[in-house]
Amino acid sequence: MTSQARARPRVVLGVGAGIAAYKACELLRLFTESGHDVRVVPTRDALRFVGEPTWAALSGNPVTSEVWDSVHEVPHVRIGQSADLVVVAPATADILARAAHGLAGDLLTNTLLTARCPVVLAPAMHTEMWEHPATRANVATLRERGTLVVDPAVGRLTGADTGPGRLPDPQQIFEVCRRVLAGRPRDLAGRRVVVSAGGTREAIDPVRFIGNRSSGLQGYALARTAVARGAEVTLVAANVALPDPAGATVVRVESTADLRAAVLSAAGTADAVVMAAAVADFRPAARGDSKIKKTSAEPEPIHLTKNPDILAELCDRRREGRGPAPEVIAGFAAETDDILANGRAKLARKGCDLLVVNQVGENLAFGTPDNAAVVLVAGGDPVEVPRGPKDDLADVVWDLVAARLG
Ligand code: CTP
Repeated sequence: MTSQARARPRVVLGVGAGIAAYKACELLRLFTESGHDVRVVPTRDALRFVGEPTWAALSGNPVTSEVWDSVHEVPHVRIGQSADLVVVAPATADILARAAHGLAGDLLTNTLLTARCPVVLAPAMHTEMWEHPATRANVATLRERGTLVVDPAVGRLTGADTGPGRLPDPQQIFEVCRRVLAGRPRDLAGRRVVVSAGGTREAIDPVRFIGNRSSGLQGYALARTAVARGAEVTLVAANVALPDPAGATVVRVESTADLRAAVLSAAGTADAVVMAAAVADFRPAARGDSKIKKTSAEPEPIHLTKNPDILAELCDRRREGRGPAPEVIAGFAAETDDILANGRAKLARKGCDLLVVNQVGENLAFGTPDNAAVVLVAGGDPVEVPRGPKDDLADVVWDLVAARLG
């Protein structure tokens, strides 16, 4: 092996015996194409779904499920010891049970016992198995020990049934793994966070609305990075056309009223809320039941009425001790001019703990993968975040949230 090859991060991709094993081929490709050295370790039964030649050809490495092959290389110890990340996708109920109990009947479970690197498990199974008390207990045990168990997605399962248990999109599992490999701390483990994303739409009539240009990219980056740091994430998404981040519970909303209901309901049990959504300040006072026709020469004016300020409402509830409230509340402020002065005034006015202030305008922030911001901290110094990926800004926000959560 060349020194360049050795410098590649070493990933062990464990594959369990579930129909979603075919999706792990795509995950494998995402790793190899981005320069990772991947050793695939399927269970014996996983090979019934996808055979050894597929894994060997795609990874360029030998593939076995047994501890009895190449024994002189002591694979049952070496593979785990030398890994930078172990990810198991799909992780079946059986793998979760064996991992939780420290069983070591095959190469994958031996590898899980010898790995000292971060371990990510992406379960996929039928809803009944996922919700069974035995599986819940195994997941809780694994999480307590520091394993990152990414909640399955809700959707179509094998056969006609739907529900929680679907393997998340491979690209999204890959994004979580990338953040974990980047060395982010698991400092949100056991924490519940709520993130709002996207932009609300206020109906004028059944076909038209007043909206804004928010893509949801920053909110989705916040959700993704929080999952990688171990949080249980509820993502309230207003009109976002992006794939669901792996591991997050996504609640789709349209209007400010929908967003308010979803955020306030999830905030009751949350440790932190980050309002990244662009919320419409006003809505049409009356929503027409039928499409407005251009019958008259002059257009009818649209009368607007004020929307509730969800962020301010959350902060007011906490200040007044009305019901359970998140310990940390963060907002975003999109400003076009005088961004710092406006941001400081907004932080004080809303009463939140953190305010991420960014400049918006043509080609700035909206719809772009990058962002630059200043995070204003109540009672602390501002933190300047230079232009970079939205995931990096998200991690700065979580650093500050985690510090305040103590
Ligand atoms: N926000 C909210 N509810 C609203 C308006 C905004 O919860 N009705 C939240 C946003 O999600 C964001 C923060 O408040 O986290 C700031 O949003 P922004 O639109 O910049 O502030 P506004 O209060 O609307 O102030 P202005 O439009 O005057 O700048």
